Amino acid sequence: MEFFIDTADVSAIRKANDMGLVDGVTTNPSLIKKAGRDHEETIREISSFIDGPISVETLSDTYEGMLKEADTYMTWGENIVIKVVMSPEGMKVVKALTTRGIKTNVTVCFSANQALIAAKAGATYISPFVGRLDDISHYGMDLIQEIRTIYDNYGFATKVLVASVRSPIHMLESALIGADVATVPPATLMQLFNHPLTASGIAQFEKDAADWKK
Ligand code: E4P
Repeated sequence: MEFFIDTADVSAIRKANDMGLVDGVTTNPSLIKKAGRDHEETIREISSFIDGPISVETLSDTYEGMLKEADTYMTWGENIVIKVVMSPEGMKVVKALTTRGIKTNVTVCFSANQALIAAKAGATYISPFVGRLDDISHYGMDLIQEIRTIYDNYGFATKVLVASVRSPIHMLESALIGADVATVPPATLMQLFNHPLTASGIAQFEKDAADWKK
């Protein structure tokens, strides 16, 4: 499973990348706002040191507007993926960009039928939001299993990119189901390191080495 990092915080991306844990980056308008920096400047900086795909979300709600933004975003880096919301206009954009060989990521997906539509339109990635489903008492990982089954049934090439990840359990279950990618916030990524036996094991080694360690 590929690990994308779900943030526009450049220092957090560098930190995760230095550990070899960044296969790509996803951003959205909320993450750009949270980073508090200029959109273009931020994406250009990320592109300067990340080789993998970087998803940049369109803001317009029209076909023409989204295509114009896509053309601009494509000048910001080598490996830009155009993120498009799940909507009829959005799927027109996905079809047009796919025809031009441009990669797309369909976002705010909450049902398997939406994922089926995105695959039919030719999306490179589908982003089902598991955390937001959990928030309303729907078990988000069920959606990942459904999409995996449907895509495997018909051999769709669209990659399942688990989004709205909130916990290590989301990462574990994504990997067990066979999701292609999970995009993880920096804090959740660091939680993956944690195990009490690892912590106590390291502490014991340090204690036993204290006498002779320089
Ligand atoms: C990434 O592509 C999504 O925009 C992001 O994972 C949404 O996460 P949230 O539900 O925590 O805002």
